[in-house]
Amino acid sequence: MRTKIKQVLLAKEPSRLEEKEVIVTGWIRTVRDQKAFAFIEINDGSTLTNLQVIADATLPQYAELMTQLTTGAAVSVEGILKKSPGKNQALELHATKVHLYGACDPARYPLQKKRHSFEFLRTIAHLRPRTNTQGAVLRVRSAMSFATHLFFQQRGFFYVHTPIITGSDCEGGGEMFRLSTTKPSEEFFGKPAYLTVSGQLELETLALALSDVYTFGPTFRAENSNTSRHLAEFWMIEPEMAFADLKVNMECAESYLRFCVNYALEHCAEDLAFFDQFIEKGLLERLKKVAHTPFAHIPYTEAIAILKKADRSFDFPVEWGIDLQSEHERYLAEEYCQKPVILTDYPAAIKAFYMRQNPDGKTVAAMDVLVPKIGELIGGSQREERLDILERKLEAFKLKKEDYWWYLELREYGSVPHAGFGLGLERLVLFITGMENIRDVIPFPRTPGHAEF
Ligand code: 4AD
Repeated sequence: MRTKIKQVLLAKEPSRLEEKEVIVTGWIRTVRDQKAFAFIEINDGSTLTNLQVIADATLPQYAELMTQLTTGAAVSVEGILKKSPGKNQALELHATKVHLYGACDPARYPLQKKRHSFEFLRTIAHLRPRTNTQGAVLRVRSAMSFATHLFFQQRGFFYVHTPIITGSDCEGGGEMFRLSTTKPSEEFFGKPAYLTVSGQLELETLALALSDVYTFGPTFRAENSNTSRHLAEFWMIEPEMAFADLKVNMECAESYLRFCVNYALEHCAEDLAFFDQFIEKGLLERLKKVAHTPFAHIPYTEAIAILKKADRSFDFPVEWGIDLQSEHERYLAEEYCQKPVILTDYPAAIKAFYMRQNPDGKTVAAMDVLVPKIGELIGGSQREERLDILERKLEAFKLKKEDYWWYLELREYGSVPHAGFGLGLERLVLFITGMENIRDVIPFPRTPGHAEF
């Protein structure tokens, strides 16, 4: 039975190590041929660290084997695990049997030992998971997905599935992908259908039955924004709570984010140390601070005053009523607060129709969590639960009542205050790893003009 390299490396304290037989599998990262023997580094993706294998001339057909053991080749190695005399590793595997699964022509293999740019690696998205950085990103991404389920399940939320194909534009931005069949004249669903931009509207129906629910799935936006923070296909986590107001919502968002940070610090230590060294110096300090410091809270109106007083000029002028740009969001989180900040009570006109109107009549009970490096990481609100106000809002937003009949009925039959938010998984992974570009934290990024692989 094969053992994961992570398990092998964790197996025993080197000082207490008994010599042990193991079988490992993986892809060769490097080979150093010393004639009578060779050092072969192999990696199976389970951990950042490679396992050093020592193959020597006593192996059957050693000379021929050595011509095939090249970077990128897939192998299994059976051998004895021993304490290593070298300084770079505690353990090494002395091979007694090497099996070549798949050879890899070194003259053609694009992943050479040197460091490749992230731009180049995007062009070989089918091979880049084998690099150190991508391996670490994918392991952190997996951990954040798991931490998400853990957090909400522990709090008694139910995991529900909202549809990917939908008839409604939740955010009202009109940034939807329209669905058609290969026979374009046919309207398969009998009416226009789109890929979801958010599961929220359907999620609200489930919250108004199960009280606390969350959904976690792919989300699609045809925004033509070629930035390092936007994807056309991304994964969103959306919790929704009944009998809850904005305060409960903010507490949940803050606890969830902090839970994810702590989870990463505890369970992804090796990968985070790698990011701290090679991607963002000071990453671990930044994350530890987030884990321990309460977030700042600022109403939108106050944030505008702060931005106006800032000792710097912004590309987009600041006025009450503007939709904040990334430069404003980052100034508030990175420089003014120097920690995550929750902005609340935005002007009604720049937020979606479903947000609850505040008593001032001008603002809504919205909340965005802005974090250093990224800007907006979470967007949420308390929902408008009052039928008459919601109907007026639909009118003001020029949305047809008929399209939202079922959403309106929720306000007719046992309506309650309820609230929720959405967090983009990729932005969370950027925040946790210090990676700069959102295209490098999802295996197959979809952006305007790019849907290769
Ligand atoms: O602020 P947004 O648009 O909120 C909603 O969709 C609400 N319906 C959520 C809810 O209340 N249930 O999006 C939520 C989050 C953003 O804060 C951001 O992290 C992420 O989704 N996001 C994107 N991530 C990558 N690429 C894009 N194009 C994104 N658009 C939003």
